[in-house]
Amino acid sequence: MTRAISLHDVSKVHAKGVRAVDHLSLDIAPGEFLVLLGPSGCGKSTVLRMIAGLEHITEGELFLDGGYANDLPPSGRDIAMVFQNFALYPNMTGRDNIGFPLRIEAPGADPAPRVDATARMLGIEDLLDRFPGQLSGGERQRVAMGRAIARHPSAFLMDEPLSNLDAKLRNHLRAEISRLTRELGVTTVYVTHDQAEAMSLGDRVAVLRGGVLQQVDSPRAVYALPRNVFVAAFIGTPRINLLRGLVRAPLDGAMTVSLGKQALRLPEPLCLDHRLLRVQQGREVIVGLRSEAVRIATPAEARPEETHITGLVEHVEFQGHEVLVHFNTGSSPAVVPELEAPRPVPAPPRRHREGGLLGRLRQRAGGPRGGSAAAPDEAADRARPSASPEARVPGDLVVRTTPDFVLRYGMQIPLLVDTAHLYVFDQHGDRISPAPARLPDLEEWEA
Ligand SMILES: Nc1ncnc2c1ncn2[C@@H]1O[C@H](COP(=O)(O)OP(=O)(O)O)[C@@H](O)[C@H]1O
Ligand SMILES: [Mg+2]
Repeated sequence: MTRAISLHDVSKVHAKGVRAVDHLSLDIAPGEFLVLLGPSGCGKSTVLRMIAGLEHITEGELFLDGGYANDLPPSGRDIAMVFQNFALYPNMTGRDNIGFPLRIEAPGADPAPRVDATARMLGIEDLLDRFPGQLSGGERQRVAMGRAIARHPSAFLMDEPLSNLDAKLRNHLRAEISRLTRELGVTTVYVTHDQAEAMSLGDRVAVLRGGVLQQVDSPRAVYALPRNVFVAAFIGTPRINLLRGLVRAPLDGAMTVSLGKQALRLPEPLCLDHRLLRVQQGREVIVGLRSEAVRIATPAEARPEETHITGLVEHVEFQGHEVLVHFNTGSSPAVVPELEAPRPVPAPPRRHREGGLLGRLRQRAGGPRGGSAAAPDEAADRARPSASPEARVPGDLVVRTTPDFVLRYGMQIPLLVDTAHLYVFDQHGDRISPAPARLPDLEEWEA
């Protein structure tokens, strides 16, 4: 009934050499809800279409329940797909749209009982006699889901099924999809560019970038222990603060991470993760601070794992339940150009590292400070929902506070940085602290 889907080293190369998917390996367990997340153009739809059999696999193997499936026709895969644009037959009622695949599958059988049961499950009994043109977007998408569910497929593939709906409906249907797929226990691969959607739906989230898998983990793990700076920047809102840093580790003094005009002094005795930074001595790194890792308080209030800096208030975003304060701390935001740029077109095998990230950072650093959110397009939108693409985010450090603080432009404010929640990435953008090997310690790290 439910099905295991495995991709082994799968690539898709389009005509003209566009490598849409690059050596992807992924094992999806029976009944699992896996989300494929990444910016537009990163290859998500291509992956789904290869699983569905709508797209030829250039290299690598697809296995369905352990059986080699590259050459299986779509109709032989027992997989149902739900698309972004609802894809209903306009000249058929809801009932006929839902019943259509059933008629194809079993021409003699009466689809009515299955159609009715599905409609009850989705609460769309009253929509069955309407044509798609007489339905709202949300209703159309429910009917489209009904058509996928009625077949009792062994897997669902959903390609941004909610992105044509307004926010309220999206939240509602998101909850419904989550409930339904779990109730049915059917393996689901769900594609989205919306990290919040990915985090709220997935048992696991697979982050893709330029056709290359970056990380696949539970939502908690991709948030708390992103493998690289791309994942860190893509997941979480407001976006993680990414600053250019330099590790200083004198043998006789405190180890610090210099951030331009100020430095983070790492508390002694050094924890294991910080000790590992010693080898980065003198090297440029990217420091990641999530907004919740910094609080407004004086040095006297510091807990042992906290270190202090000061920030000049440049902008205050009132959000009702919380306030986002943009500080200038005299550091330079790390720009990660390949996060922002459209994916490179002629794609050589990306097996080895894309070196010299910091070299490119340096080139970019000559540009206007702060005009440089290191994020893919959607992530950048998320970080500043009201800003036009050209608008610059002021400050280099965004901190979340309760609305009780009255902060005004130009105030110099003491800040405490929680060094236990400090991320450090190397010149290639890979996370070096917390140490990658510490993934199993997630619980402890989050405590
Ligand atoms: N038929 C095609 N021919 C050439 N390039 C294609 C074709 N289909 C998709 N692509 C390219 O492959 C990449 C991945 O596309 P897609 O899987 O649709 O991305 P996503 O769903 O993540 O937005 C994009 O760069 C896209 O332009
Ligand atoms: Mg797509």
